[in-house]
Amino acid sequence: MDLARLERIYDAYAKIYDRLFGRVFDAPRKAAVQWLDARPGERILEVGVGTGIALPMYGPHPFVVGVDFSLGMLREAQACIGAHGIDNACILRMDAMRMAFPDSSFDGLMAAYVVTAVPDHRRLMAEMVRVCRPGGRIVIVNHLHHRNRLVAFGQRLLSPLTQRLGWRTDLSLDDVLAGTPLEVTRVTTVPPFGLWYLVECRNAKPA
Ligand SMILES: C[S@@+](CC[C@H](N)C(=O)[O-])C[C@H]1O[C@@H](n2cnc3c(N)ncnc32)[C@H](O)[C@@H]1O
Repeated sequence: MDLARLERIYDAYAKIYDRLFGRVFDAPRKAAVQWLDARPGERILEVGVGTGIALPMYGPHPFVVGVDFSLGMLREAQACIGAHGIDNACILRMDAMRMAFPDSSFDGLMAAYVVTAVPDHRRLMAEMVRVCRPGGRIVIVNHLHHRNRLVAFGQRLLSPLTQRLGWRTDLSLDDVLAGTPLEVTRVTTVPPFGLWYLVECRNAKPA
């Protein structure tokens, strides 16, 4: 799917996104931020920050940059920053597959429900590795192929339909990590339905 179409889809979600996908996915978002374990003074990047729903979860210590392509979602994120009085975060409009940051700019990255929403997950992953410092952490939470092959087959079948809604359902964790220098340090399934994975990686790219 091209980026312009995706932007239109997420612009349309913006006002109702938190009501649709807020509470039901909040526990995994909180767990992802906890796994990231950002320390005081660290620079954290959240890709596909959406309505900024996770921004209040980082606490006052790290500096958090959120990027997204949808202006509608970013408007909501700006309102979220204002409503929560967050002074250690900023948001930028950027294509996460082609970011304007120099190499190794961040200590940690978080991507919640984004790897299956971008047009090209390989370019997204390559960019996340590039802007993360060597040894930095990358935490991903996303629905991915279920271990049960029958469920995974159903997910693949559904993908052409879900892509009309703004995400695909045909990626496995192996697909996401293929060709990256990321080492998985922790992985678990998270609710609902055990179809979502929380994955912590160490960026093992050369210094
Ligand atoms: C399913 S939403 C997830 C939002 C948020 N991370 C959350 O926890 O709910 C996916 C987000 O990724 C954004 N997105 C999709 N493709 C993108 C791209 N290439 N660059 C930046 N953001 C993108 C969409 O605009 C949308 O806000």
